[in-house]
Amino acid sequence: MTARRGPYGTALGLAALTVGLSVLARLSARDPGGGPALRVVFTGETDGFLEPCGCNEGQLGGLARRDSWVWRLRREGRPLLLVDNGDLAGDPVREGGRLSELKRATTMRAMALMGYDVVNLGERDLELGPEALDPARPAGAPVLVACNLRREDGTTVGDAVRLQVRLAGREVEVAIVGLLGADFDLVARGVGLVLEPPGETLARLAPGLEGASAAVLLYHGEAAEAERLAAAHPWLDLVVAGHGREQALVRPALAVPPVKGRYLGVADLPLGGPGAARVRFDPLDAFVDDSPRILRLLEDHQRRLLAEGVLDTSPRVEVVGGGHYLGSEACRGCHGAAHEAWGRSRHRDALEDLRRYRGGRHGDPGCVRCHVTGFGTLTGYRDEAITGHLSGVGCESCHGVGSRHAAEPLRRGYGRTAGEALCRGCHDPENDPLFDHDAAWRRIAHGL
Ligand code: HEC
Ligand code: HEC
Ligand code: HEC
Ligand code: HEC
Repeated sequence: MTARRGPYGTALGLAALTVGLSVLARLSARDPGGGPALRVVFTGETDGFLEPCGCNEGQLGGLARRDSWVWRLRREGRPLLLVDNGDLAGDPVREGGRLSELKRATTMRAMALMGYDVVNLGERDLELGPEALDPARPAGAPVLVACNLRREDGTTVGDAVRLQVRLAGREVEVAIVGLLGADFDLVARGVGLVLEPPGETLARLAPGLEGASAAVLLYHGEAAEAERLAAAHPWLDLVVAGHGREQALVRPALAVPPVKGRYLGVADLPLGGPGAARVRFDPLDAFVDDSPRILRLLEDHQRRLLAEGVLDTSPRVEVVGGGHYLGSEACRGCHGAAHEAWGRSRHRDALEDLRRYRGGRHGDPGCVRCHVTGFGTLTGYRDEAITGHLSGVGCESCHGVGSRHAAEPLRRGYGRTAGEALCRGCHDPENDPLFDHDAAWRRIAHGL
């Protein structure tokens, strides 16, 4: 594994660079002769992906690299607007609401440090409920621009903004609007908010915004719908959409940032005449340094997870077929050879590795789930104190709950695994992109 890192990390990094293509788009005719362009740096759908896991080097993204890259872009000297299209946290149903809340708060804090100007809302932000949105905003936090959400008393949740930017010696005014797609009407109602159809909101706001030197729409919804809005409002210079993986470009420029903050979108908009808008996506790969201030923030985040015992707030289901987890020690007496082989494998110490990683990730459900036994089930790993015997990837991670088998070992039917598919449940393309099943099995092979 250690040997793996160097060469593969580099190869993957290079591959990623070529994916970060830059694309050209024809844009609104406002700039005589390609004068200074306004730079808008955009992200969206971070989805609770605070950092790439330490499982492998090839992963992209992470707030600490984002901070370094933004810093580097700022050092180029031209002013930039930094905007986010929403969905800061992961899916609260899958993650457990408290984890999503804390991830959102940490991401918001990171954005405040990075100097984000505005942030839109996505359905995952909304699902946390309106109460979660306000306290999650630290001093210096970006302005909420979600314009088509209203509270029951009629007040709007966010507002369109006009920002002054000094560009090549003159003040220009940039209008930014955020909208949430009509599909999320039910989500909004579920938390006591009213979602106005985005087309109506935009039509209402248009007269007040058309006069700005440049206008940006953050549309948290389907790209196709964003494209329709863009076509109906040619005064928009840039439309950042969500919920899509591909980058479509129309006039005005429509850009869909890839999810999980793996890339930073960079749009250069020439102001005032004909000229091409350039949109590109910079990969946040292992060549980008982690910023120390964000690493500290992430450590705070982990301390908080541990202090609150967030592991134990994760959703848990009953195991199919009943029984309960025993821990690998319970198998040793009858399967000495298998136990010994397992004891030499990396699976045994998988939780220890999390504890050692960057000051500890052993309180983070998003990491722990693949590094312990039976996480997410009623009798599986919960935390060290209650379920220390289930730390690491134990026998039952692969063979299933063992209590019935241990009580009646001669009864057939226990322990057959799904083979390679089982392995790939954890050795997935993100955490172990180079997984070679046969070679891996040889390293952990064992039998009766
Ligand atoms: C009391 C002794 C005993 C304990 C405890 C025990 N086993 Fe077994 N296990 C056996 C015996 C005996 C067999 C062989 C059954 C057979 O050949 O039909 C077996 C078979 C198996 C098989 C092979 C099943 C097959 O059909 O090929 C697996 C896998 C297995 N055990 C895993 C475990 C795990 C994991 C644990 C701990 C949770 C465990 N065993 C605990 C005695 C035990
Ligand atoms: C989907 C399952 C999965 C999740 C979730 C996961 N890991 Fe892993 N992790 C793995 C696998 C599989 C390996 C072994 C990879 C390999 O050998 O190439 C691994 C290996 C590691 C290693 C050892 C790497 C080394 O070089 O020693 C560390 C550290 C680690 N993970 C940290 C984390 C952290 C931190 C998180 C959460 C941010 C996390 N993991 C989430 C599956 C996962
Ligand atoms: C990473 C997954 C994994 C872990 C962890 C693991 N095993 Fe296995 N084990 C397998 C696979 C895969 C096989 C091959 C047979 C199969 O696919 O079911 C196997 C085979 C076996 C067999 C022989 C079954 C047979 O039919 O020959 C026994 C017994 C066994 N394991 C017991 C254990 C015990 C006891 C532990 C813990 C000390 C353990 N295993 C840990 C995946 C695992
Ligand atoms: C429950 C999740 C999980 C399952 C299922 C799983 N693994 Fe792993 N595996 C891990 C984790 C996590 C690590 C990294 C442990 C560490 O180093 O911290 C790992 C590490 C390994 C390693 C050591 C890494 C290396 O490059 O030497 C091998 C080999 C391996 N697994 C093989 C397998 C095989 C084969 C299977 C299927 C039979 C399997 N694993 C199933 C989670 C899993």
